[in-house]
Amino acid sequence: MSVLNSHISPLAKIGQGVKIGKLCLIHDNVEIGDNTIVSDFCTLGEPLHSSYKNQDYVNPLLTIGQNSLIRSHAVIYAGSKIGNNFQTGHRVTIRENMIIGHNVSVGTLCDLQGFGEIGNYARLHSNIFICQGSILEDYVFVYPGVTLTDDHTPPSSHLRPPTIGRYSQIGAKATILPGSKIGCHALIAAGSLVTRNIPDFMMVSGNPAKIIKDAREIKNRETGERHYPWPYNFSRGMPWQDIGFKEYCVKNNLNEFGLKA
Ligand SMILES: CC(C)(COP(=O)(O)OP(=O)(O)OC[C@H]1O[C@@H](n2cnc3c(N)ncnc32)[C@H](O)[C@@H]1OP(=O)(O)O)[C@@H](O)C(=O)NCCC(=O)NCCS
Repeated sequence: MSVLNSHISPLAKIGQGVKIGKLCLIHDNVEIGDNTIVSDFCTLGEPLHSSYKNQDYVNPLLTIGQNSLIRSHAVIYAGSKIGNNFQTGHRVTIRENMIIGHNVSVGTLCDLQGFGEIGNYARLHSNIFICQGSILEDYVFVYPGVTLTDDHTPPSSHLRPPTIGRYSQIGAKATILPGSKIGCHALIAAGSLVTRNIPDFMMVSGNPAKIIKDAREIKNRETGERHYPWPYNFSRGMPWQDIGFKEYCVKNNLNEFGLKA
């Protein structure tokens, strides 16, 4: 099958209403949900390393959910599972064995190294490196230029990827060192170097990052009001957009911080 000079494998499963731009390459092992748009020059289902060595190797399935928007020049490898309403910027690379939830966005020039998990409603802004095996829970936002690392003594085979708890915010150009476990609702200030575990709700900054205060003390400079937990003050595109975070927590049997009680 060929659409506007794209090559779409006849074995790929393409949903209803899917639009595919020019010069795309959609491999055999790809399933695309209904109404998803794949913009120009994208490669979906990029073969894994083993398939170059072994002709009989069957690349694992890549699934991309419904109503997604894959912008131009994205390369998404075989063997990842991506939910509905997924959005990318341009020139994104997503390696194999990522499990990505629903309503996730991954900005321009992000590099996701695979074998990790990204929860629902997570937002990755541009130019972010997510090392292999990282776990980002629901509603984690990561800002431009952040680097997650997994090898304490490079080069080695002992990888300890970081984990980031629900609702945490990782400020621009922060670097997270291997094995760091960042709790829920934490706030990592721009440019921080995180070398150890960060407890829930803590704002850290500096190199090495130190706990400065409870993020719930921080006020928004425009409103003068306390800003965190941020879901009480930000709802665009979030599931509480129409009802507010308080009501959302009640409806979903969560505590006031949106966590399981
Ligand atoms: C974390 C943050 C919200 C702190 O806000 P705040 O509590 O209002 O901070 P203040 O300006 O009152 O600073 C508190 C202290 O922390 C220090 N500090 C704040 N941010 C810092 C940072 N990024 N790195 C190092 N120190 C920092 C301040 O210098 C100050 O120290 P002092 O008491 O010795 O003077 C803010 O600095 C920040 O980094 N925001 C994220 C920006 C970002 O990445 N946005 C992404 C969207 S593009």
